[in-house]
Amino acid sequence: MHNSILVTGGAGFIGANFVRRWIATEGTSVINLDSLSYSGNLSSLESLCDEARYTFVRGNIKDRNLVTELLHKHQPRAIVHFAAETHVDRAIVNPEEFIQTNIVGTFQLLEAAREYWEQLKGDKRSRFVFLHVSTDEVYGSLGPHEDPFHESTPYAPSSPYSASKAAGDHLAHAYHRTYGLPVLITHCSNNYGPFQFPEKLIPLMILNATRGLSLPVYGDGQQVRDWLYVVDHCDAIRLVLARGRAGESYNIGGRNQKTNLEVVNTICGILDELRPRSGGTSYASLITHITDRPGHDRRYAIDTTKILNEIGWRPTELFETGIRKTVEWYLNNSNWVNEVVSGQYREWVRVQYATAS
Ligand code: TYD
Repeated sequence: MHNSILVTGGAGFIGANFVRRWIATEGTSVINLDSLSYSGNLSSLESLCDEARYTFVRGNIKDRNLVTELLHKHQPRAIVHFAAETHVDRAIVNPEEFIQTNIVGTFQLLEAAREYWEQLKGDKRSRFVFLHVSTDEVYGSLGPHEDPFHESTPYAPSSPYSASKAAGDHLAHAYHRTYGLPVLITHCSNNYGPFQFPEKLIPLMILNATRGLSLPVYGDGQQVRDWLYVVDHCDAIRLVLARGRAGESYNIGGRNQKTNLEVVNTICGILDELRPRSGGTSYASLITHITDRPGHDRRYAIDTTKILNEIGWRPTELFETGIRKTVEWYLNNSNWVNEVVSGQYREWVRVQYATAS
């Protein structure tokens, strides 16, 4: 009580890594509120099932009564809000869910948080924090020589996904300005690592390669992302929670700018070494260029000066070491992969990639 935190979306990729790391490194409790949509998996948290400091609640952030009840019951000192629809391609096919979860859901959560925070007294009130986890995609797309995004870069979202995250960010800022709710916002670059749902570039490529399927690269594959190892991201959030200034945003990046083709070729190289194909051809021969994503952002890059100077955080994982760990993790955790790759997932892959070549 009072030292616990409420995490939303703790069964998702970043949320699950965060919850696991929190329990391993902090002495306090976590309440994990997750709706267990297609991308949330309790198997990512199996190791915590006997952990007294961990409580799982299945529910939706849009259910304000449920959130209010949880807040009053557990009296958390912070909310860390990961719950979101995050896959750009899904947002292009069906934006509705993105509006519902990322905008309406964030609004309902902020309302519940405001009601709870306003009745807190003394220390409990002054220590309370609402940390809203967002993305660098709200800043739009960079040209090859433009400076990386910094916290005052104007918002210019391109996809229904990034537009919905931008709307959620604006609400979170507004709750700080209007009601004084102690809100912190973090913007991360592309995460990778264990437990990522295999609709995203890195796990999709690892999985397809090991199954001998084609590796679908959108357009020319020269789009640039700044890859952040998920554990580095989780550590950054823990530090922002402890040291961040209410009302402020913090950009979190990996300092690893790579083109998509570089990423896919690196994965193929590691697989060639760890699990050579019979016949001796490289996995890279499976690379297939397919029709580009509509509205595809060309480049994202993050300036991490503020979080380094104010919070004292910097990423520690090199892309070369992080990607190797990630490939090894997927090779060693086929049970997890088989559990998450449901009929629904297979249907998504069929529809998304069927006509794209
Ligand atoms: P993704 O993992 O979907 O993250 P985001 O769109 O949020 O950056 O995609 C990362 C990059 O990889 C992006 O430029 C799109 C590209 N990509 C492909 O080329 N092929 C694919 O099958 C996927 C899923 C992504």
